[in-house]
Amino acid sequence: MSRDSLEDVYRRRGSTRWQDRLGRLLAPPAPYVMNPTEPKDFPLGRWNLYIGGAGRRPAGYVNLDLFAVAGVDVAADAELLPFGDNVFQRVECDAVLEHVRRPERVMEEIARVMAPGGYLHLVTPFCHPFHEYPKDYRRYTLDGLKELAGGFEPVAEGWRTGPTATLLVIAIEYAKLLLPWRAWRGLVHGTLGWLLFPLRYVDLWLLRTGRAGRIGNHCYLWVRKRE
Ligand SMILES: C[S@@+](CC[C@H](N)C(=O)[O-])C[C@H]1O[C@@H](n2cnc3c(N)ncnc32)[C@H](O)[C@@H]1O
Repeated sequence: MSRDSLEDVYRRRGSTRWQDRLGRLLAPPAPYVMNPTEPKDFPLGRWNLYIGGAGRRPAGYVNLDLFAVAGVDVAADAELLPFGDNVFQRVECDAVLEHVRRPERVMEEIARVMAPGGYLHLVTPFCHPFHEYPKDYRRYTLDGLKELAGGFEPVAEGWRTGPTATLLVIAIEYAKLLLPWRAWRGLVHGTLGWLLFPLRYVDLWLLRTGRAGRIGNHCYLWVRKRE
């Protein structure tokens, strides 16, 4: 995706223009439910880092992104974090590692800026359509994600969004592929989104079966920097 169109996406997230508000009002519900058993309550410290929050304002975090758009406190590449060592008590890196050129380098940087004993939350897609922010390089299984975070102490792991989320996002994306016109793709996205979203609740059962990872949508890993 070009830098311009990506920055437009970020701008629309918080825009108060009536066209953008109407778009948000008519947008279908998300085709996924979050796994209710995913832990969320690891302690925040005085300084916490949110990587990749363009267009958002995550409370309690320094928000770092490649793009200097609304909500971003620090515009920088996660491969070279502009912070000193041992600063952040908690780091969020949600749906970012598939977009960076060198994920190992990002992990080294995160380990460097985290305070000993601090918590890191990683979320990555496994079965998910190609999406450029601004590039899309890879997918992760839970094993792949744990390997990448091998220097940290594992705390919790699992699937954030399940097989039905995969089915729905792929079905909607497939239908859009068949249509050559952008307006039609928008219409089919909205229509199928509204028609199919109730199926997302099947994941509340599938995520409990232990089989969700066969075609899971996004996996998560909580790890701790050793003291
Ligand atoms: C899929 S979005 C993440 C969504 C985010 N977790 C949220 O809830 O809004 C990926 C984000 O990572 C940012 N990003 C991509 N590569 C990056 C890099 N090398 N350094 C910092 N941010 C990056 C993108 O600009 C984008 O905002």
